[in-house]
Amino acid sequence: MIDMNQPVGRTPLDEAGGLLGRPLDRTDGPVKVTGRAPYAYEYREGGAPAYAFLVEAGIAKGRLAALDTAAAERASGVLLVLTRRNAPKQGGKADGAIPQLVGETILHHGQPIALVVAETFEQARAAAQLVKPTYEAEQGSYDLASAMPKAVVPKASNGNQPDSRIGDTDEAFAAAPVKIDVTYRTPPQSHAMMEPHATLAVWDGGGLTLYTANQMLPRGIATVAATLQIPKEKVRLISRYVGGGFGSKLQVQPDAILAALAARMVRRPVKLALTRQQVFHVTTHRTDTIQRLRLAAERDGRLTAIEHLSWSNNTPGQSFYETAANATRSIYAAPNRLTEHRLATLDLPISASMRAPGEAVGLLALECAMDELAVALTIDPIELRIRNEPAEDPELKIPFSSRALVPCMRKGAELFGWDKRHPEPGRVRDGEWLVGMGMSAAIRGNPMLAAKASVSLDAGGVATVKTSMTDIGTGSYTILGQIAADMLGLPIDGVKVELGDSALPEAPGSGGSFGANSAGSAVFDACSTLRDAILRRSGLPVEGAEFKDGFVRAGGRSLRLADLARPAGIQADGAADPGKSRREYSQHSYGAHFAEVGVDSVTGEIRLRRMLGVFAIGRVLNAKTARSQAIGGMTFGVGAALMEDAVIDKRHGHFVNHDLAEYHVAVHADIPAIDAVFLPELDARSSPMKSKGVGELGICGAGAAVANAVYNATGIRIRDYPLTLDKVL
Ligand code: MOS
Repeated sequence: MIDMNQPVGRTPLDEAGGLLGRPLDRTDGPVKVTGRAPYAYEYREGGAPAYAFLVEAGIAKGRLAALDTAAAERASGVLLVLTRRNAPKQGGKADGAIPQLVGETILHHGQPIALVVAETFEQARAAAQLVKPTYEAEQGSYDLASAMPKAVVPKASNGNQPDSRIGDTDEAFAAAPVKIDVTYRTPPQSHAMMEPHATLAVWDGGGLTLYTANQMLPRGIATVAATLQIPKEKVRLISRYVGGGFGSKLQVQPDAILAALAARMVRRPVKLALTRQQVFHVTTHRTDTIQRLRLAAERDGRLTAIEHLSWSNNTPGQSFYETAANATRSIYAAPNRLTEHRLATLDLPISASMRAPGEAVGLLALECAMDELAVALTIDPIELRIRNEPAEDPELKIPFSSRALVPCMRKGAELFGWDKRHPEPGRVRDGEWLVGMGMSAAIRGNPMLAAKASVSLDAGGVATVKTSMTDIGTGSYTILGQIAADMLGLPIDGVKVELGDSALPEAPGSGGSFGANSAGSAVFDACSTLRDAILRRSGLPVEGAEFKDGFVRAGGRSLRLADLARPAGIQADGAADPGKSRREYSQHSYGAHFAEVGVDSVTGEIRLRRMLGVFAIGRVLNAKTARSQAIGGMTFGVGAALMEDAVIDKRHGHFVNHDLAEYHVAVHADIPAIDAVFLPELDARSSPMKSKGVGELGICGAGAAVANAVYNATGIRIRDYPLTLDKVL
């Protein structure tokens, strides 16, 4: 059992010449690009499936007075129309359940009101059009700004209190020679992952298997079991390949529950995929936010007060709020500090986590406010941040496990050519384009969760790693293989990795940038135990033993691992726990973003010209997958700055642009030269790999660097995301 209460000493992963860190291709690449990697909707398990199609509520608030299903039931091929009339009893919200089709109350547009099950997908879809709801609609509230006065203090989230206060920000603000008081707005955003939510539900005896698209299998099992009121042991989730998640699959969504209910009733497997348009309303999204920043400083740039107040919203009964001000608690020094989160209830679809929940939008506000302060002080934005670098976590008053924000900014400035930036806005032209540069700090929490794994070595000398970790396109298969390969002295194709099945040793899954450290630590532990078992069997001295090239060597002797595994193989279990010391060190990954944009002086069109991120994430586990995560996150950040906006129809409470034609995300043409660089770093307090989280770091601050570049190009400060051309003109 790995317990992170002690710093990790030297391990086999520190030996030179290993695979860890190398830019290995993803081991799951070939099965993916040849179409042999099954995604949820492609499974054929359990015999011929029936197909389901969801019917969504067409109002945002009110009562489903009547639901006429007669025509749908008579339609060809229809096996079942599941509604509140015949939906089985389910667990309640208090037990962590997400009951479907219960009651008459409509809480948001897109709430499932019926499921049509038929022999074919086309029959189910056609019959779904025949379901006729009658509503008693009520006027809902859909506007965060108007709801601010009624917003409440939300419940603590993941142990983080919604508010923090040190000193007196009012007093410091009144006394400060230089101050900034600005309000930023960020819009609702949709995860826009490639694979929409889909489930194949198969009942066998009393047991349920869901082939579904999910990031966190144990959490999913708990929700399914609580909702269907069956023991957790009766539920198996399989998500071997997931076409992106970004948080939308941290929780099971209604597709999994509805497919399970329907499959039990029609006594055969049921497949249900949400359409892209349904994903926007039926599942979760990132809430819009309103964030007020007050920064007060001495003339030399030292902050005397930081105040970050954030409002977000959610559907009635939902407690999730956007923790936009959490990073503000540890990024800069200042004696007087205030952060507050308020949650308004709106009659909109459910808000939940989306990539870097909190920091992603929090830094869109904070890091632009810092840029505004730099302008007010006429101090270089990097210099301003360096002058406010804290020696310890400024609110928790505990040391950082490692913190390389300043080196990231310095390295980025050098590589990007920051010295060529004109400090005065609107001074650099290229034809009709105004050109500007901007930067932002990046910070993202580095959590770790308890995880288990097993590893076995067969008589052929091949190792198999098993854990219920998922790979949502990030490279989990590959990096876990690299860890095991280095621990056991095997080549990468000498290690098989099995993931994405809740029957495997329990790991929390992919989310919150905790995946690699959590599952990787458990794999490390299992491999350590397996090494001990192999050594015991070999009779070789433990001291100085070396696992390399399929052999174990010690005391001048050398034995083949395959021979030692004979006849029946050899197996070991591993586990890891974050331990208490994670609360004694402030743990984050850091970075700095640099962006250059052109703004057309005639049309207002904004074009990213080039972008660089420099990051410190502890040990880089795989230079290629880490870079992909970083530039993917940066691309996400560019989208947040310039285009992503789920537009709320303020009369009817739905997202107007609920598809990928209208909800714009950054595409290749929007992302020219973009690069990510990692500084060498090891964090012995983070994990046995000495690595930190990277999956969400790239988005954090990326959009602010773009927005700051737009200001530098034009002198126009836009505080309402996204920065579209109409706001420039
Ligand atoms: Mo992430 S929003 O924890 O997938």
